[in-house]
Amino acid sequence: MYPPVTNFLRRAMLYVPSSSPRMLTKSLGLTCDTVIYDLEDSVTPTAKAEARAALKTHMNGLLSKPPNITEFAVRINSPGSPEFEKDVKLIPELHFVDTVIVPKVNVLGDVRAVSHALRRKENHIMREKPIKLMAMIETARAVMNLSTICEGPRLNGLIFAAEDFALDLSLTRTPDLKEFLYARSAIVTAARARAIPNVIDLVCTSYQGPEAVAQLERECQDGKRMGFTGKQVIHPSQIKTVQRLFTPSAEEVEWAVRVTIAGEKAVKAKRGAWVLDGKMIDAPVVGKAKDIVNKARKCDLDVDGLLEKWKDQEFE
Ligand code: COA
Ligand code: MG
Repeated sequence: MYPPVTNFLRRAMLYVPSSSPRMLTKSLGLTCDTVIYDLEDSVTPTAKAEARAALKTHMNGLLSKPPNITEFAVRINSPGSPEFEKDVKLIPELHFVDTVIVPKVNVLGDVRAVSHALRRKENHIMREKPIKLMAMIETARAVMNLSTICEGPRLNGLIFAAEDFALDLSLTRTPDLKEFLYARSAIVTAARARAIPNVIDLVCTSYQGPEAVAQLERECQDGKRMGFTGKQVIHPSQIKTVQRLFTPSAEEVEWAVRVTIAGEKAVKAKRGAWVLDGKMIDAPVVGKAKDIVNKARKCDLDVDGLLEKWKDQEFE
């Protein structure tokens, strides 16, 4: 068996409609953290069976996972929908799938239903690690049930889906996304409370035209500030921007390395609060710096080079 992906930063997660052989093929040449092959809403009800067959041919025709893609995921149809059983049956038959994206999760039982259904099928197949689940939060009910949903087995991520959420609440999306503030913040908080590592922000639906890049950049910066770790994308042109903006910037990493080094010296000197560049630093700030250093390592940035460069950093 191939080694499953367990510990990396999912920054950009690209949807690819499984009903499009052209896009399935195109996806293999893209450099992206996660490619999500979709069986849900980008596939019409009459094309579901065809999409499952196309996906199976596509995945099982691969001899190895392309090095430019860190993870393959599949978005199935929601628990309780007519296609659910057929989708779940397919998953363990697909090579190289690490994660299942579960849409329209409303209650803990929805996550459990997928996990149980997978367990029954997985027993026949040797896997080093079980398939992971990510739950899509896209209804008012889901937001109200976040803390119990987060107890779900195999769950290692929450994904906010704005379009279904807007439909459910009869609200209108605006460029500054303020109507989603409560739900997005609740999702990040619930994930953190349960140590769920991946929290993925909404799709930026505008992907072409003069304003598209600026809108995507604004959304990424806003999502990152709120604590999201990555973002869903729908078009290959969005991947690079998302991966760049959800990677710690050079300035952030340099600051974090300096704080980490000076912080170790401060601890030895029994100083809990100290100063760097005229700003007070204490335990939570050092914690934040360590978090950035860890993220930088996962993004393959040259942290060791910076540790060497700043090894003489002192606290003030
Ligand atoms: N995955 C893989 N390839 C994609 C892609 C995607 N999501 N979106 C576009 N491409 C490919 C196209 O096939 C085309 O390839 P080609 O040059 O070999 O023909 C190229 O990228 C340029 O595409 P473009 O012409 O700009 O877009 P389009 O008009 O073909 O498609 C969308 C636009 C929005 C319909 C398409 O991007 C899409 O279906 N995205 C995913 C939607 C989705 O899954 N939604 C549900 C989750 S929110
Ligand atoms: Mg949806």
